[in-house]
Amino acid sequence: MANTNAASSGTFKIGGSTAIHRLGFGAMRITGKGIWGPPADKAECLRTLRRLPELGVNFIDTADSYGPDVSEGLIREALHPYPGMLVATKAGLTRSGPDEWQPLGRPEYLRQQALKSLRWLGVEQIGLWQLHRIDHKVPRDEQFGAIKALLDEGIIAHAGLSEVSVDDVVAASAVFPVATVQNRYNLVDRGSEDVLDHCEKHGIGFIPWYPLAAGSLAGRGGLLDRIANAHGATPSQVALAWLLRRSPVMLPIPGTSKVSHLEQNVAAAGITLSDAEFAELDAGGKAEFSSAKPD
Ligand SMILES: NC(=O)c1ccc[n+]([C@@H]2O[C@H](COP(=O)([O-])OP(=O)(O)OC[C@H]3O[C@@H](n4cnc5c(N)ncnc54)[C@H](OP(=O)(O)O)[C@@H]3O)[C@@H](O)[C@H]2O)c1
Repeated sequence: MANTNAASSGTFKIGGSTAIHRLGFGAMRITGKGIWGPPADKAECLRTLRRLPELGVNFIDTADSYGPDVSEGLIREALHPYPGMLVATKAGLTRSGPDEWQPLGRPEYLRQQALKSLRWLGVEQIGLWQLHRIDHKVPRDEQFGAIKALLDEGIIAHAGLSEVSVDDVVAASAVFPVATVQNRYNLVDRGSEDVLDHCEKHGIGFIPWYPLAAGSLAGRGGLLDRIANAHGATPSQVALAWLLRRSPVMLPIPGTSKVSHLEQNVAAAGITLSDAEFAELDAGGKAEFSSAKPD
């Protein structure tokens, strides 16, 4: 399993045309504490990024706000001109300090940030650009209109949304083709099941963030621990294998700043869960989610 390639996770075509391996990489963790400033160990972050193509990972998720600019800058330093890779970025959140994030969805700001990402990444077109948050102080249709303009001008090839409802996806789809949706989702955080089902029905890529979380199921002797032991794997790897099996449009982007953790995460693509294991994990995750939810 240690030598597994991300190709084992299968492929998905973003926007029906750009083929990627389903198991990707989240580049939020290659920054400083609070997703602010440079990382503590820049050399290890660059090694981690350079290991991606060797492991068959050809889909990277980043954002202008990670650092800010630090994540995009390191990706460029390590991997430019990204042969055979899709580097997806986002904008729509401003930063004022560690762990501080404020939505800003004014059309001129979104355009400015997309143009800045072109420069930071050193590309003529962004393969996939996502609205990081809908800013509720700005009519959502104005934000969707700004995205359509970026597509029409060829500044971005495909566009997506993050932290949205089915209603948001339907409204956006009337303005531009929604290629991806990125919502928090994992084995024990099932609040976006309806959004995932909508994405599957419409061929929209669903990018679950915080994919490695497994709550108390990962504890010693717990359900995940037991199934992980049966596969000679870790609970995090089984949580990823469950996500990959949950839907063909699922595109997990586990994030790490370390080569060894990246190798472990990619190896999850080689785990095949039985039908019974999948069902047991599914039920266990749903039960943990329901019990944690406030009434
Ligand atoms: N759209 C949004 O609003 C949004 C929000 C948050 C994140 N994201 C995206 O989603 C990606 C993933 O989310 P996430 O980073 O929050 O969660 P995650 O990938 O589930 O977890 C990352 C954390 O787990 C650790 N880790 C990773 N692999 C590990 C391993 N094999 N063993 C032990 N620890 C491991 C990492 O630390 P180490 O560095 O020490 O490995 C890091 O602290 C981000 O990178 C980002 O691209 C999007």
